[in-house]
Amino acid sequence: MTGTELTGAGTDTVLSLRGICKSFGAVAALTDIELDVAAGEVVAVVGDNGAGKSTLVKVLSGVYTPDAGKIFFHQEEVSLGSPALARAIGIATVFQDLALCENLDVKANLFLGQELRPWMLDDVAMEKRSWELLRQLSAKIPTLSVPVAALSGGQRQTVAIARSLLSEPKVVLLDEPTAALGVAQTAEVLNLVERLRHNGLGVVMISHNMEDVRAVADRVAVLRLGRNNGVYDAGEVSSEEIIAAITGATDNVVSRRAAGRLTSPRAEKEEL
Ligand SMILES: Nc1ncnc2c1ncn2[C@@H]1O[C@H](COP(=O)(O)OP(=O)(O)O)[C@@H](O)[C@H]1O
Ligand SMILES: [Mg+2]
Repeated sequence: MTGTELTGAGTDTVLSLRGICKSFGAVAALTDIELDVAAGEVVAVVGDNGAGKSTLVKVLSGVYTPDAGKIFFHQEEVSLGSPALARAIGIATVFQDLALCENLDVKANLFLGQELRPWMLDDVAMEKRSWELLRQLSAKIPTLSVPVAALSGGQRQTVAIARSLLSEPKVVLLDEPTAALGVAQTAEVLNLVERLRHNGLGVVMISHNMEDVRAVADRVAVLRLGRNNGVYDAGEVSSEEIIAAITGATDNVVSRRAAGRLTSPRAEKEEL
């Protein structure tokens, strides 16, 4: 297998990270991170507490500027700078806390925090756009005028994901989208993830839950202590293998494999 196949970098690659490093004082939260996400692909990013998952989301969403490394969007190097800029480039993020306003209704939440566009002053246009966003997700929200406080956890996640689609992104980052949800609501959210893939978006899903990962991921990227610890084809890897990579039980094996893998994408970096 070539390095290209292993990292997934190909013509339909939307987002690529090469050599991303981010430290907080003496803590190296991310070291030499490589990641590729293609259109219509769900990449799960898994790892133990402190592995660097949230830091990675914040780098990808423009909250943190990496200390080193490059981010490519459609093969072009980009500097994300801020969440607004990342969104404008085509990377939208649903943060773990969702940041919804409980007292506001669904429609108000869909447009919350987005750059004002002229048509947003038009209530009818906003209503139309709201339904469009929800339809893209085949979402089951009966009315736009109910306060978010009255919605279930799954419906809130739906609103947060629908909101992320307002900027018409090519990549959506989901940080632990099912962490607080029960079985039925988790299934509902995983359906949304399938919809995003079906609509041709690249999806990066941070998760702790092996069942969720197995249910929707095409590839699984393991972070351990802020470093890549294997990228697996979800159809070919067992949950045990993923867990072993998360906990470090296979560190020796994986680092030998990773050493082989990392040489090719590095060489490729020059060509990107
Ligand atoms: N703002 C911060 N200041 C200092 N250290 C941080 C900060 N954010 C994260 N860290 C540290 O970086 C490492 C990775 O954290 P994080 O990205 O939150 O991991 P995860 O989301 O996988 O649990 C941890 O050691 C954490 O303590
Ligand atoms: Mg985290």
